[in-house]
Amino acid sequence: MRAPLPDFPWDALAPYGEIARSHPGGIIDLSQGTPVDPTPDFIQEVFGRASNSPSYPLTAGTPELRAAISKWARERLGASGEFDVLPVIGSKELVAWLPTILEAKKVLIPEIAYPTYHVGALIGGAESIPVGIDSSTWPSADLAWLNSPSNPTGRVHSIDEVKACIQWSRDSGSILASDECYLEFDHTAQSISVLSQTGSDNSNILAVHSLSKRSSMAGYRAAFMIGDSQLISRIREFRKHAGMIVPLPVQKAMTAALADDKHVAIQRARYNARRELLSPALKAVGFRIEFSNSGLYIWCTRDEDAWTSVEWLAHKGILATPGSFYGDKGARHIRIAMTATDDHIKDAVLRLEA
Ligand SMILES: Cc1ncc(COP(=O)(O)O)c(C=O)c1O
Repeated sequence: MRAPLPDFPWDALAPYGEIARSHPGGIIDLSQGTPVDPTPDFIQEVFGRASNSPSYPLTAGTPELRAAISKWARERLGASGEFDVLPVIGSKELVAWLPTILEAKKVLIPEIAYPTYHVGALIGGAESIPVGIDSSTWPSADLAWLNSPSNPTGRVHSIDEVKACIQWSRDSGSILASDECYLEFDHTAQSISVLSQTGSDNSNILAVHSLSKRSSMAGYRAAFMIGDSQLISRIREFRKHAGMIVPLPVQKAMTAALADDKHVAIQRARYNARRELLSPALKAVGFRIEFSNSGLYIWCTRDEDAWTSVEWLAHKGILATPGSFYGDKGARHIRIAMTATDDHIKDAVLRLEA
């Protein structure tokens, strides 16, 4: 029998949401990293035109989507050699189900991490073991998750760190799954895909990507994986039985989104400008910013319990996430998301300065 799932962490934040909502200027929600900038018009148009969709879609994805993912993987991620691709409904769903699909018994997760890695291991009845980035300290396992740029810290793994993780996978014969859903949002550090470091041998390597943030398509539930052909074939066979097929209008919207980089550059500039505005204001009120070199978040601390920082900000009408949601090591940090409108970010700066 599997271990019980933890309480849903966001429920614990609700009382602080109430405090923030009572601010005369209303709440500025910088807690959940849910995109607020519109899905680009051209993607919405493709989706709308595909709404007549009477037949079942292919689990493997349309030939056009498969080609678009492969091209993007080679050109943007630097993938080489033989690999396969598979669209999935949202990467959260994949993270939650991958240990089950792979029948993993031991799963390594980053010690400060997106909570679904742990939950996915629990759902699969597996043990989840938090580890640091230095893979020379890792125990043996069936599956290890990497996440760079990291949610919540915005840390970017170096080429050497990524290569060492690949070596761990080769030496142990274990699967390395690299969650790269923030890879397009470079700021002061350039993030690399695990696929660029495999020397064309992609065995036991999976890269997981999502269009939720890259193309502001979180509501579409559009994600995909790229990597070891045999492994992806095994996952595809499972999915042919289990469903979780990406709807055809979404597949078409994904194909269009992947063919365009311009909207990604605009979105990257938006997130980075918001970080540039907020960072000095947070520092001025005593927060020390750590990592936060890329991705979607500012990870910071006032060397106090995370909930104390959350409450202090809530009285200014600003809702942040306590770092304890991401593991014990985050208990004195908070996470601030750049997923608020420019006006809200400017207002947050004014409230911090007041
Ligand atoms: C590290 C990480 N992986 C995966 C996801 C899931 O994203 P989605 O399900 O929208 O693809 C998130 C969402 O916040 C995340 O932070």
